[in-house]
Amino acid sequence: MDKPLTLLNHIAPSFPVPTLHLHDQVQTLDQKLTINGPSKLSGHVHISGSKNSSLAILAATLCCSGTTKLRDVPNLSDTRAMGSILSSLSAEVEVSGDEVLINADGVSCVEPCRDRVKEIRGGFFVIGPLLARFGEAAVALPGGCDIGSRPVDLFMRGLRALGAIVELRDGKVEARVRNGRRLVAGKFRLDYPSVGATETLMMAACLADGVTILSNVAKEPEVIDLAHFLNNSGAHIEGAGSSKIRILGQSQLHGTECTITPDRIEAGTFLLAAAITRSCINISPVFPSHISSLVHKLQTAGCRIRRSGRDSLEVSAVCENGDRVFRGFNVTTSPFPGFPTDLQPQTMALLTTCNGLSRVEESVFERRMTHVQELQKLGARIDLSGSRALIYGKEKASCFLFPSALVGSELTAMDLRGGAALVLAGLAAEGRTEISAAGHIYRGYEDIDRKLAGLGADIQISSSTASVLA
Ligand code: UD1
Repeated sequence: MDKPLTLLNHIAPSFPVPTLHLHDQVQTLDQKLTINGPSKLSGHVHISGSKNSSLAILAATLCCSGTTKLRDVPNLSDTRAMGSILSSLSAEVEVSGDEVLINADGVSCVEPCRDRVKEIRGGFFVIGPLLARFGEAAVALPGGCDIGSRPVDLFMRGLRALGAIVELRDGKVEARVRNGRRLVAGKFRLDYPSVGATETLMMAACLADGVTILSNVAKEPEVIDLAHFLNNSGAHIEGAGSSKIRILGQSQLHGTECTITPDRIEAGTFLLAAAITRSCINISPVFPSHISSLVHKLQTAGCRIRRSGRDSLEVSAVCENGDRVFRGFNVTTSPFPGFPTDLQPQTMALLTTCNGLSRVEESVFERRMTHVQELQKLGARIDLSGSRALIYGKEKASCFLFPSALVGSELTAMDLRGGAALVLAGLAAEGRTEISAAGHIYRGYEDIDRKLAGLGADIQISSSTASVLA
């Protein structure tokens, strides 16, 4: 463990954060996206690096001595916030395009900027590496999209199992190693395969004394991405991607180079964009195994999806002879490899344009249905009861006409993925759709307006609130 820092003497500097290093442009929440539909899309779209992998790996760089170089880090408000969180700990963060260099050797406090941590769920993940490397940490309860209560009990119990004293005080979690030296390995079974808790405990266990066994862990591709990164930094992690992970703790990790995996949620959103507009597009890079649950559902609906290269997919939802009808389907979200909760709202947008009755059940987050009332403003017929929605699809009889019966309207993005669902619905709707609070969408989609415009959509971001310098 590096020289311990004394929590009380090393609280975060008062803000504004000293330097915002991670990318130099910021989208603001009050942006408006205007879409004139219906759209037909064609061509190729490039998929950016994964937001969620980037957030976890940026946090994990705190475990490493020396400099780490990350490639394909997307320019998003969430990754910028994570950059500011690292800066607030006095880590050096330098950005050049989509490459980020981080050196955490100069970390001089263990309490990151509270305001920044409150902006993103991933900000809380730094508690694991800070505690493991410096022996203590104090991290505010996290923020992120308002989609449910999002507790941190699994993080707290897991860190206790690794030999930490962990307390919740004044809206922040304070933790320190019980033996005054370093974390000790332990066995911990998660009650639920939480992605964030799995990642945080993995980072902590990498620097703990002995062999840690984590069971009932998350199997998401981002967990595997993080394990690859940590192993390249000198960690010994086995089993990432399965429900049990074994970690042999090391005394230190070193800096390395890493390319972030493509964003499977962005990839899925573009497949859905092609489907809802009955278009044909190519996407790359993408790992098809990361989005197989969505691909299977889209094929059920009537889309043709095929590999068009080593890491590319072609989705064809074009109605060539007027007799192809898109069928509705049922979806229940669940942890990977189940249907991703982060694609539920966008999938519901598609289902409003498919024939027949579809059911959507959200089982991961308790309040992830705020897009329903916005979709209804476009004319969608959806009955909502708690976390279950019945969608009465409205595909028009002839595919030579445009398939959707949605009509443009003024909408508000309530959260990131719900906002993306409104963009998809706006692409399919007749007429003008205006989406306010579009900044939510830029938390997770790099250049979404430019990417869709490149495919032929008529979409603009309002000039009055366009990108501003940080
Ligand atoms: C991550 C992703 C998010 C995705 C989610 C599920 C990041 C930055 N975000 O979020 O995009 O939607 O996985 O795939 O990677 N829970 C507890 N106690 C805890 C932790 C979680 O009860 O201590 C519950 C949550 O309330 C939720 C469920 O577990 O109901 C899943 O949450 P979790 O997997 O932790 O999601 P995040 O890591 O926050």
